[in-house]
Amino acid sequence: MNKQNTATKLTNEASFDVEKVRADFPILFEQVRGKPLVYLDNAATAQKPKQVIKTLDTYYREYNSNIHRGVHTLSEKATAVYEEARNKVKEFINADSIKEIIFTRGTTESINLVAQTFGRNNLSSNDEIIITELEHHSNIVPWQILSEQTGATLKYVPINDAGELILEEYEKLLNEKTRLVTIGHISNALGTINPIETIIEKAHAVGAKVLIDGAQAVPHTRVDVNELNCDFYAFSGHKLFGPTGIGVLYGKQALLEAMPPYQGGGDMIKTVSMKKTTYNDLPHKFEAGTPHIAGVIGLGSAIDYVSEIDLHEAAEYENQLLQYANEQAAQISGLVPVGTAKNKTSIFSFTLDGIHPHDIGTILDDEGIAIRAGHHCAMPVMERFKIPATARASFAFYNTREDVDALIQGIDKCKQVFS
Ligand code: ALA
Repeated sequence: MNKQNTATKLTNEASFDVEKVRADFPILFEQVRGKPLVYLDNAATAQKPKQVIKTLDTYYREYNSNIHRGVHTLSEKATAVYEEARNKVKEFINADSIKEIIFTRGTTESINLVAQTFGRNNLSSNDEIIITELEHHSNIVPWQILSEQTGATLKYVPINDAGELILEEYEKLLNEKTRLVTIGHISNALGTINPIETIIEKAHAVGAKVLIDGAQAVPHTRVDVNELNCDFYAFSGHKLFGPTGIGVLYGKQALLEAMPPYQGGGDMIKTVSMKKTTYNDLPHKFEAGTPHIAGVIGLGSAIDYVSEIDLHEAAEYENQLLQYANEQAAQISGLVPVGTAKNKTSIFSFTLDGIHPHDIGTILDDEGIAIRAGHHCAMPVMERFKIPATARASFAFYNTREDVDALIQGIDKCKQVFS
């Protein structure tokens, strides 16, 4: 089937116009090793639409300047666009106020911020933190560090053979000592969509606060922090088709007000004397130093871009791609899918008998196909499945059935090379 027909078929099935969105992503028309690029590493980072690239170009060409402190025209313009982006984030996740939107370097920094401010301030050796076996290292290591600092106990919700959280075990771990539950919305290694509504409700019932690591969720689903009623929500710009090095921490205003600053420096202060410093209001209290201004402005543009797309339709379309990949892969002997949750999205992780995932990644690269191979910064997940690594193809709304076909042919080639 040629590309046009493939696109038309899927468009009819999911009423999602994949060719229209593909046209916005210049990199998808590049060649790699003399072959058309097939980009299936979207969980690591998503590609950028021309609208975001143009926004960054315009910022650097026309109004590059520092923000908040300048009295000149360029600085005023950069400040206005920067703060406008904060408002776009607020609307995008339906927060109550721009005071609840803190810009960070990414999900990792957002989580570390909560650990070292909320965590250091509120937890002690009698307290417990609940995380899960499914987490990315960025939602494990900050809590291990906090646990060493405070003596608080870290507990893990186990997963079953499909890569789903065992909710009965979660309920058993919850008690009056639980201060914080911190959990990924969607697993980067397996694609499992966690039932975070239930998890949040049950945590609140014992008085615990909840942080959601939304790094993999924001490109695939609408997030409404008000509806979820989570206390903190973290995500990165680069997985949402925006720049790298920029991310967001959402926190309920009352919690953020009560937390001490994360880092000291310019912009996070009201007054500084040699004896004492008074801190700036939210959200600036948590944004010390010159921030990633271009990153924030680019993230604002990425949010404009995805806001034009019906994410629900896009998610349905991605699910069809995943289903198609699963059906095709089922024909390949020796291929074992890892992560078969009932409720999952966009991630196809697998092993191939007798072939290391790194070799799969290298052979696919020769065909112009980009996937990720390794432990995906989720070593406890690998430990649970008793494997060192997986090969992982991860989809975005600009992928096609033709991309899946190329992947399957590439996997066949791996088998031939190793036969
Ligand atoms: N956390 C990113 C991934 O899953 C880098 O690939």
